[in-house]
Amino acid sequence: MSSADIHYLPEQPAHDAEIDLINEEAFGPGRFTRAAYKIREGGPHERAMSFVAVHQNQVIASVRMTWIAAGQGRALLLGPLAVRPAFKNIGIGRKLVAIAVAAAREAGVGAVVLVGDAPYYGPLGFQKIAHGQISMPRPVDPNRLLAVEIREGAVAALQGDVTHAALAR
Ligand SMILES: CC(C)(COP(=O)(O)OP(=O)(O)OC[C@H]1O[C@@H](n2cnc3c(N)ncnc32)[C@H](O)[C@@H]1OP(=O)(O)O)[C@@H](O)C(=O)NCCC(=O)NCCS
Repeated sequence: MSSADIHYLPEQPAHDAEIDLINEEAFGPGRFTRAAYKIREGGPHERAMSFVAVHQNQVIASVRMTWIAAGQGRALLLGPLAVRPAFKNIGIGRKLVAIAVAAAREAGVGAVVLVGDAPYYGPLGFQKIAHGQISMPRPVDPNRLLAVEIREGAVAALQGDVTHAALAR
């Protein structure tokens, strides 16, 4: 397999079933208890800024983005990000993150937030959000709350409880 055989596409409804299987495989039943999952339960994801990687007509990786609100701030929450085991460590995860962040930038979004490992996301532009600045609906290690700021001040505008943006007034 060469990376030329992998195509990156905007997510379509027809991808949903395969994406569900990829996330089940990657995160197991524990995915339902994660803080980010709780937020994503609050409404739909932003399909226009969610992407898949496809190999021989099969979805092999997915990244989704969901609008969130925290205080006056609005941002996109990146995740879940998952790559099928047979396709790990060839740059697909990094590429999907880069595509999703570029799409956010293109759309004028101020910031992209996620809960994840700083050693992985740091080189992709994500930095730790100040401890205590935002609160997730379930406990998370504050060192895993990361953001890439696209518009100056957009991360500072995120304050307090994080919810799905559809639930914010
Ligand atoms: C994490 C994941 C998305 C990475 O995707 P991928 O396509 O395999 O990763 P890439 O090829 O872009 O990057 C691979 C590099 O990242 C490193 N890496 C992978 N996961 C990492 C992590 N959690 N922390 C730090 N580094 C990590 C690999 O060791 C590798 O390093 P190298 O380039 O020095 O060899 C994938 O392993 C996966 O689906 N994991 C299960 C689900 C998951 O944990 N998702 C992330 C939730 S925050």
